[in-house]
Amino acid sequence: MTGFGVYVHWPYCTKLCPYCDFNIYRARDLDRAPLRRAIVADIHNHAARYGRRPADTIFLGGGTPSLLSGADIAALIGAVDDAFGLAPDAEITLEANPEDAPRFADHAAGGVNRFSIGVQALEDVALRALGRAHDAASAVAAVEAAAATGKRVSLDLIYAREGQGVEAWAAELEAALALPAEHLSLYQLTIEAGTAFDRAVRRGRLAPPDDDRAAALYEITQAVCDAAGAPAYEISNHARGPAARSRHNVLYWTGGDWIGVGPGAHGRITHGGVRLATKAHDRPENYTAAVSAGGVGYGDATPLSRDEHGEETVLMGLRLSDGLARGPAEALRGRPFDADAVAAFGEAGLLEDAAGVLRLTPPGRLLADHIAATLAQ
Ligand SMILES: C[S@@+](CC[C@H](N)C(=O)[O-])C[C@H]1O[C@@H](n2cnc3c(N)ncnc32)[C@H](O)[C@@H]1O
Ligand code: SF4
Repeated sequence: MTGFGVYVHWPYCTKLCPYCDFNIYRARDLDRAPLRRAIVADIHNHAARYGRRPADTIFLGGGTPSLLSGADIAALIGAVDDAFGLAPDAEITLEANPEDAPRFADHAAGGVNRFSIGVQALEDVALRALGRAHDAASAVAAVEAAAATGKRVSLDLIYAREGQGVEAWAAELEAALALPAEHLSLYQLTIEAGTAFDRAVRRGRLAPPDDDRAAALYEITQAVCDAAGAPAYEISNHARGPAARSRHNVLYWTGGDWIGVGPGAHGRITHGGVRLATKAHDRPENYTAAVSAGGVGYGDATPLSRDEHGEETVLMGLRLSDGLARGPAEALRGRPFDADAVAAFGEAGLLEDAAGVLRLTPPGRLLADHIAATLAQ
């Protein structure tokens, strides 16, 4: 177990991107106070219900939480500190859109010590295709502005975009690696059901790369990042050394506890010896109503069965380059992994089983979901 975290979901964006299926709502000139107050109350109600324990990490995600002011953020961090306590070296991450760079110094003054910036691409044509509100130069300037605050910096890129060639992506990635960021999240474009991109694919107006091209793009990603000293520590996440890893995300992948506050936020809390799954109401008005009725932002927490908990542990743990500790995972599942499946993946060069740790090989990482789902049975 790796400590305790708080995830805060701020669901508003000034513009909705055509690929995105997060719990998001378009809003301009929004009065932020009602939702901010509800989230503060939800944090306190979680502590009253599940007990006080110091938070090691806070992650302000969205949506676009960089639309919040430094004072809003200070109020949210202050609520966590009052309700739970904050570890002295707590990691406090803000997911930030490049357009909000003029507010970064204010965010840092409000208590943010790590910025995760949605660069998405460093080519203007690609940024327009992704429906982004910024160009490449302003994304670069945003990373530099975040670094100028003296806080930790991560950036997100989306690759396996329509028409993207391996050499062009390698050059774009090298440009990103030259920016002052200690961490990169590199996501292959996923066509999510119900998005504008999904409709475009079905109408034949958008053609993402096929599996072979996507695999080639994944492989060059690993090679370029390894050469630049930013190897993957998780399928999509790269860091310049262990200290640069996202402690909040590592907490998810290693089975830690966190509360999820804000509309649509998920949480996992171990309480009374049972692992509970929570999911807040998606719509801000339903979320706010639930909290103001004196409770948390959801109806009931769902107890996870031993099988469900074991399955999550395998799905998450195998994503890490450090691998999954076999003994604790088997104890949690209440049964060993299928020896034939482990051996078959091993013989195929997809999985290593050494010193009590199951670890995907580089080719195995391309099939992570399939391997994890098979082992989780
Ligand atoms: C919750 S989003 C919020 C980021 C922030 N609002 C922004 O737009 O920069 C977190 C990250 O998920 C990634 N993402 C969102 N939708 C995606 C998709 N369909 N395929 C791949 N990556 C996606 C993007 O890289 C994005 O930065
Ligand atoms: S990618 Fe970011 S800005 Fe775009 S819709 Fe999703 S959360 Fe909002």
